[in-house]
Amino acid sequence: MYYRLQEYCRLVAGASRGAIYNLQTGKVLSVNQGALQLLLACEQSPLEDILDIQAPEDKTFVDFLHRLTGMGLGSLYLTEPTPAKAGAPDEEPPKLNFLWLEITAACNNRCLHCYATSGPCADSDAVPHERWLSLIGEARAAGAAAIQLIGGEPLLYPRWRELVEKASAEGYEFIEIFTNATLVDDDCVAFCKKHNVNIATTIYADNATVHDRVTLNPGSFAATMGAVEKILATGIPLRIASIVMKANEHEAKNIMDLCARLGVEVTPPDVVRPTGRGDDKDLLPAAYAKPPIRPPFYTDPETFARAHSCHSCLHGKIAVTAAGDVIPCIFARGEICGNILATPLADVLNGQRLQQCWHTTKDQVDKCKDCEYRYACTDCRPLAQGSDAAKRWLACSVDCPYNPYTGKWEE
Ligand SMILES: C[S@@+](CC[C@H](N)C(=O)[O-])C[C@H]1O[C@@H](n2cnc3c(N)ncnc32)[C@H](O)[C@@H]1O
Ligand code: SF4
Ligand code: SF4
Repeated sequence: MYYRLQEYCRLVAGASRGAIYNLQTGKVLSVNQGALQLLLACEQSPLEDILDIQAPEDKTFVDFLHRLTGMGLGSLYLTEPTPAKAGAPDEEPPKLNFLWLEITAACNNRCLHCYATSGPCADSDAVPHERWLSLIGEARAAGAAAIQLIGGEPLLYPRWRELVEKASAEGYEFIEIFTNATLVDDDCVAFCKKHNVNIATTIYADNATVHDRVTLNPGSFAATMGAVEKILATGIPLRIASIVMKANEHEAKNIMDLCARLGVEVTPPDVVRPTGRGDDKDLLPAAYAKPPIRPPFYTDPETFARAHSCHSCLHGKIAVTAAGDVIPCIFARGEICGNILATPLADVLNGQRLQQCWHTTKDQVDKCKDCEYRYACTDCRPLAQGSDAAKRWLACSVDCPYNPYTGKWEE
């Protein structure tokens, strides 16, 4: 007799435990070392060579296999089943899908935490208008379907409308402007409506005192909220982001309530990330925190396959800064993979540095590489890197209380 996991299940070994990934239900089941070794042995040999089904000392293992069968995760076979396909799952190489264009580093706000270190005095803009236009075409030709104009404050870029028109003419499926919205006027709203442009903005409180304390721009809350009303009245899809730091940590609930009143999607605010001006311990909230990484983990066949060769978030994305630098994410300021002033985009996309970022898997990350959850767990590399004392790209996330070497979740 043989025992095998179902063909939609995958067994993943960690340093001290294992996990069964059920690609049909998406559930990930943790198993101990004994169970892991038993299932690995079952892949190689008939059951009789591994267990004595009648022997009392093997009863725990036999019961375990029965439980797996009852859960639809495995089966007994009288004859040897065809071996499952060995090796990592097949996965298409990643191609460009989404790009952020930081069309200016300048900003009329000067937020305490800004990763882009933007403000009224920022003067690193180096990309000629014609290059932004050609880049939008090159990115589309490389496969990009979604584009976001961001900054700094993108509405301070005098010819931003021409960039939207170019993206629209190139056939991007999704165009978004991420703006502090202080400069949004009727004309801007009408233009966005006409060109199917989505808008994203940011609020740091439900009141001017705290919001303006973060933006260091008196009057910014009133201007942003005025724009929010205009945008919603026009029916333009609006996303409201929010970031929490020490200056506004008591506003998290107020912000969510405000979003609910406005009828926009309500999500818990993010915590300031340690990059740019945000790389400052004094900014960190004292109590507010996002929930740490914890089971249950879920997956699906596509995510599971991709996790073997690509980064779960970074693959297919680039950000281009106002200096022309290509970075894998707006938060990964130090990971410069090329510069579009000197290089065609295609060369940067095929370059080793960007490819390495896109192909950063948890098999390479400290601690995660020995964890049985590594093909289901999410990851933010810039956050892990920014929180690491030595700023290592492959540092483990500080938000994870799991110790794969003991198999224990620390409190
Ligand atoms: C850099 S801004 C650019 C767009 C626009 N100026 C705005 O503020 O909405 C984009 C978003 O990044 C957020 N952000 C800036 N620095 C951050 C940091 N260190 N950690 C997390 N989010 C940050 C801002 O709060 C904003 O929601
Ligand atoms: S977070 Fe946005 S609004 Fe604030 S300084 Fe940075 S670019 Fe400007
Ligand atoms: S962050 Fe790493 S160690 Fe923690 S659960 Fe996820 S894969 Fe495992």
